[in-house]
Amino acid sequence: MIDYTEKIPNNIDLGRDRVLQRALEHWQPAYLNWWYDMGPNESHNYEVYLRTAVSVEPDGWAQFGYVRMPEYRWGIFLQPRDEKRQVNFGTHKGDPAWQDVHGEYRSTLRRVIVTQGDTEPASVEQQKMLGASCPSMYDLRNIFQVNVEEGRHLWAMVYLLHRYFGRDGREEAEALLARRSGDTDNPRILGAFNEPTPDWLSFYMFTFFTDRDGKFQLCALAESGFDPLARTCRFMLTEEAHHMFVGETGISRIIQRTCEVMKENKVEDPSDVRSLGVIDLQTIQKYLNFHYSVTLDLYGSDVSSNAANYYTSGLKGRFEETKIDDDHQLIEAQYPVSEVVGGKIVTKNVPALTALNERLRDDYIREIESGLSRWQRVIDKSGIPFRLTLPHKGFHRAIGNFAGYFISPEGEVLSQEAWKQHEFEWMPSPRDHEFVQSLMSGRVVELGKFANWIAPPTRGINNQPLNFEYVRFN
Ligand SMILES: [Fe+2]
Ligand SMILES: [Fe+2]
Repeated sequence: MIDYTEKIPNNIDLGRDRVLQRALEHWQPAYLNWWYDMGPNESHNYEVYLRTAVSVEPDGWAQFGYVRMPEYRWGIFLQPRDEKRQVNFGTHKGDPAWQDVHGEYRSTLRRVIVTQGDTEPASVEQQKMLGASCPSMYDLRNIFQVNVEEGRHLWAMVYLLHRYFGRDGREEAEALLARRSGDTDNPRILGAFNEPTPDWLSFYMFTFFTDRDGKFQLCALAESGFDPLARTCRFMLTEEAHHMFVGETGISRIIQRTCEVMKENKVEDPSDVRSLGVIDLQTIQKYLNFHYSVTLDLYGSDVSSNAANYYTSGLKGRFEETKIDDDHQLIEAQYPVSEVVGGKIVTKNVPALTALNERLRDDYIREIESGLSRWQRVIDKSGIPFRLTLPHKGFHRAIGNFAGYFISPEGEVLSQEAWKQHEFEWMPSPRDHEFVQSLMSGRVVELGKFANWIAPPTRGINNQPLNFEYVRFN
């Protein structure tokens, strides 16, 4: 169970390690300053109907109640230790899982933790202004839930830095509060986390696509031979599930509403659809193309010696490592990767050990495909002949084998000029952004009301009705 009587809630018996406790209690006010500064705009006095974990079990989310967000009980929650757990892959396979950091892997592991940790506050910063244009109180509550949990994820990584990396770790923990999403001098580490999230269509796309990258990274780290990291990530994954739910259902509700309006008014032309105050399916496709492609970059280079090292050292595994039936060392295995040769995309086999980024990206793509088919069903049910598609893996990529090439959503290698001619058929143009933002000029917060451009969800949070007061403005 989680101890909420302590200043920092935890299930790790923090009180027994006074030095660590003091260090974290010292970081806590800096964290709160960051929240006041960069957390959801003007929200500090709102009382929000939030869930708080009472235990780290998957069903440990029983506690719902009104909380002022700066008073949310951020803390340190790890899955309980399994004494028999081993390192399950790499050269140390079969050794007991490490309870401490191997000296030789120290800086690599710190880098991995910092890179993960940096994404957490970044997304809160990206979403800071969205409360002002929420489509309903239900949605407002959901974004706040996502925000406080991303804050909690930062706590999870900062705990590891403080506990296992001494002074360097404490400095990194401070730097995590100093970088800012989109800042020119001191940006967040990864590209997608410096992109603005200017509207709710972007927000739902982000939580569907980019939070799911988070899930896959956490799944790979949850396999780590470094046991505290694995246990931390396991619990973070239970929080992540809600974020992806918000994204998937958000887009699904937008699609549903658009289809309803198209049917009712017998219109198909995007400009007619827009004039009825809903988002045309073509624009949804363009947003999808953008978020999918920038998120694919987060997996890194297709062929990567770093990824191979992380694996061989036992630091970062594959998705569902222990369910895979092979040697877990990848001594002989091959894996296909694509590249552009002579103006064509070709696939070749490379040592699987070097292609682990690509493999994780492929695992991710499979899950994206099934989400996409659920969205497609909403369109199909309405009888509208429109197909949502995933662009080719090489479309609009800035990292890896496709970087520097101009590839169409269908996978043709084009000249820069030809690609640019079609850019705004494939990606949101400034006018598309303007249109989407024009629908979201103010917030909708009357009880039970939803903005015109989105359908209500099928049910409320924690079995509450849709007209429940999810947020009390004070
Ligand atoms: Fe997160
Ligand atoms: Fe998340």
